[in-house]
Amino acid sequence: MSEVLRDKIKNKRAKIGIIGLGYVGLPLAIEFARKGYKTYGIDTDVNKIKMIQQKKNYIKDVITKEFLYAINNNLFTASTTYDNAGEMDVIYICVPTPVTVNKTPDITFIMNCAEELSKKLKRNQLIILKSTTFPGTTENYVQPVLERRGFKAGKDYYLAFSPERIDPGNKTYNTANTPVVVGGVTKKCTELAVMISQEVTPKVHAVSSPRVAEMEKLLENIFRSVNIALVNEIARLCERMRDVNIWEVVEAAATKPFGFMPFYPGPGIGGHCIQIDPYYLDWLAKQYDFQTKFIEIAAELNEDMPFYVRDLIFKEIAGLPVRAQEANVLILGTTFKKDIDDARNSPALKLIELLHKDGIKNLNFHDPYMKNIRLPDKIFRCQQLDEKLLRESDIVVIVTDHSSYDYEWIVSYSKKIVDTRNATKKIRNNRDKITLLGYSPSL
Ligand SMILES: NC(=O)c1ccc[n+]([C@@H]2O[C@H](COP(=O)([O-])OP(=O)(O)OC[C@H]3O[C@@H](n4cnc5c(N)ncnc54)[C@H](O)[C@@H]3O)[C@@H](O)[C@H]2O)c1
Repeated sequence: MSEVLRDKIKNKRAKIGIIGLGYVGLPLAIEFARKGYKTYGIDTDVNKIKMIQQKKNYIKDVITKEFLYAINNNLFTASTTYDNAGEMDVIYICVPTPVTVNKTPDITFIMNCAEELSKKLKRNQLIILKSTTFPGTTENYVQPVLERRGFKAGKDYYLAFSPERIDPGNKTYNTANTPVVVGGVTKKCTELAVMISQEVTPKVHAVSSPRVAEMEKLLENIFRSVNIALVNEIARLCERMRDVNIWEVVEAAATKPFGFMPFYPGPGIGGHCIQIDPYYLDWLAKQYDFQTKFIEIAAELNEDMPFYVRDLIFKEIAGLPVRAQEANVLILGTTFKKDIDDARNSPALKLIELLHKDGIKNLNFHDPYMKNIRLPDKIFRCQQLDEKLLRESDIVVIVTDHSSYDYEWIVSYSKKIVDTRNATKKIRNNRDKITLLGYSPSL
């Protein structure tokens, strides 16, 4: 049976379905189209589908020329409905996996997809879940729904988990050259999932089950969370010690060619992965009467960083001839990391929320990728970044270190800078204006 799908993949006749056309799904869809596959996207967000129909590329990492090539050559079409899901041969699920207000996994988006697909599932179809989730999701949650009508994975259809590794803004690694991990429910499922994955990226690593692939993804992201927390903790110690600069420490440690990998302190973490994934594992561990203490502490420490930066700002304001609430505070960079347009769970948003709650009346922001920031009781609009704005600000806080900023120019026109990213590293003049997170030298 699997020969049918194998042949279709080999001859590039397999029709590819991508469910969820966001930061993960759209680049994947365009990559398949680029490789010559007929690709169909499904997204419940009407705006995204409209933009695709109007040939408007909305994901910065997707090359517009390739996006237009896919659409103009009828290799990529998209819709809000699952009507033609039954005609596809391979379906990737790339929907969000957030946490609830109680920081427990929310897999409703995945389950909604599974429900829809269960109505359309046809023989020989291969379903690959890509959304980051806890081990067991594919087999214990998705598989039973898909098999309601009596199909069996590995026999009637195929099911696998293959985590997404895309790193928005990364100029070196993308969908086409980042190795992929695949774990199928049966051997045949794995073989087919490996085969289709190799059409996009040559390096595919097969593991023994979806559970291993699901855990592998959590390990990757929690590795980052824990190491960022570690360096944030040492940064806070350095600040208290005064004469040790954490940035110099990390730079020195990074000269070791083995056994060390540099991570940098900052105002906190954001995005749809590192901030959320520790809670997926934490929830799972509790089902086994196991507490992921170390991982929880790291997540808490990272979440505390915007509060720490808030305190740093207030300390600086205290030294100015202005009442705290009257101070003009300018936040530079609000996306969750540099050079991207994604502000989900950004520490800058948390910081703005905290400063607003603290009563800072003259709070402004600038980000080349964001127009507005909405709080429940206020909308902040991106300001024009010019000499006047910098001169009028009592404190300029560098939260996200976009490459497009001219830091020398920013420092020269600002009265006081709080730099949470060491973005001003190369600037020699006006150092006395700069307060660096993780270094507070004695006067
Ligand atoms: N963004 C990243 O850098 C990244 C990296 C690795 C892994 N991931 C993981 O990939 C998954 C997707 O993340 P993303 O950043 O692409 O999310 P996203 O929010 O950018 O895109 C998800 C899309 O799915 C759509 N959607 C939701 N429910 C749907 C449904 N039932 N049917 C059809 N479409 C539906 C949404 O409208 C949205 O457009 C998440 O699990 C995330 O953790 C993301």
